[in-house]
Amino acid sequence: MIFFINLILFLLLFLWLFKNRKYQSSRSVSSSYDDWTKDQLLERLWGEHIHLGYYSNPKEKKDFRQAKVDFVHNLVHWSGMDKLPKGSRIIDIGCGIGGSSRILAKDYGFDVLGITISAEQVKRAIQLTPSNLACRYEVMNALDLKFKDGSFDGVWSVEAGPHILEKQLYADQMLRVLRPGGVLAIADWNRRDYKFGEYNFLEKIIMKQLLDQWSHPEFASIEGFQENLLNSNYCGGRVDINDWTKFTLPSWNESILEGIRRPNILFELGPKSFLNGIREIPTILLMRWAFGSGLMRFGVFRSRG
Ligand SMILES: C[S@@+](CC[C@H](N)C(=O)[O-])C[C@H]1O[C@@H](n2cnc3c(N)ncnc32)[C@H](O)[C@@H]1O
Repeated sequence: MIFFINLILFLLLFLWLFKNRKYQSSRSVSSSYDDWTKDQLLERLWGEHIHLGYYSNPKEKKDFRQAKVDFVHNLVHWSGMDKLPKGSRIIDIGCGIGGSSRILAKDYGFDVLGITISAEQVKRAIQLTPSNLACRYEVMNALDLKFKDGSFDGVWSVEAGPHILEKQLYADQMLRVLRPGGVLAIADWNRRDYKFGEYNFLEKIIMKQLLDQWSHPEFASIEGFQENLLNSNYCGGRVDINDWTKFTLPSWNESILEGIRRPNILFELGPKSFLNGIREIPTILLMRWAFGSGLMRFGVFRSRG
C-alpha cells in the first residue's frame, strides 16, 4: 500500500514538472490532436486507432493493434450496427485518423463520413484511406453537426466524449442526426458516478491530473450519460449500457509495453518525440490505476433512433 502511494506521489510530481494540456475550449483539443498527429508518435507506436483494445479476458495475449481492431468489431456486434444493410450511411464522430471509419467501410460495406475537430487528423486520415473505399472525412465540431435531422443510418463515436464539456448537447446532436430506427454506438471513458460514493482526497488529485493532462474538461459517468441520451428529445426510448472496463484494462500496460518493444520508433522520431513519449507514461499509469480501482470505468452505449 505504502509502495503504491509513493508511486502515485512520484507520478504526480513528475507530471507537475511539465506544462499540462488543460482543456480551455474545443481549440485546445484540436491543437493537442494536431500536435499528436504531426509528431506521429502515437500512430507509429499504437497504429491507426486512438482507442483501447478488446481482450476477452485479462490474461489474453494478443497484439495491441489487433486488440484495437477486435474492439471495433465487438462494438459493431454489441450495438447491432452489423444488422444495417451494406451502403448504410454512418457518421463516425471524433474519428481520429479514421481507424474505425475504414473498418466500417471495408468490412461492413458502409458509406462512412468521419468528422473530427483536428485538421491534421483529417489530412492524415485521407492519406491513409484507399481511394476505392467509401470513406470521407471533414473537420467539424460534434456540437455543431452540419446535417439535417435523421441524415444517418448509424452514429458511431469512440472515446471522443471526454473532450466535450457539454454532454447533453453532444448526446442531442448524435441522436438528432440519427434516422428513426437507426443504430447508435458509443464507447467512452467514464468516471465513477457520485451516487456510488464521494471521491477521497487521493482520487480527487488523480482525477484532476486525468482531466488536465489530456485536454479533458469532464468525464461523464456511465449512468449520467445514459440519462443525457434518454433526456434527449430525439431519443427513440431505450438506451442500453454496459461496462467494458475488464475487457479493455490490459490496454494501458500494453500502451507502455509497445514503446519498450519498439524502442527504435522513439529514437527515430528524434529527441522531442522521445521526451513527449516519456512524458505520457505517468498519465497512462494513473489511468491504469484509475480504471483498475473503479475510479474510472469504460462505458458502452447503444440505442435505436
Ligand atoms: C481519443 S481520440 C479517438 C479517435 C477515434 N475515435 C479512434 O477511436 O481512433 C478522440 C477524438 O475525438 C475528437 N474530438 C474531440 N472533441 C471533438 C469535438 N468537439 N468535435 C469533433 N471531434 C472531437 C478528437 O479530435 C479525436 O479525433
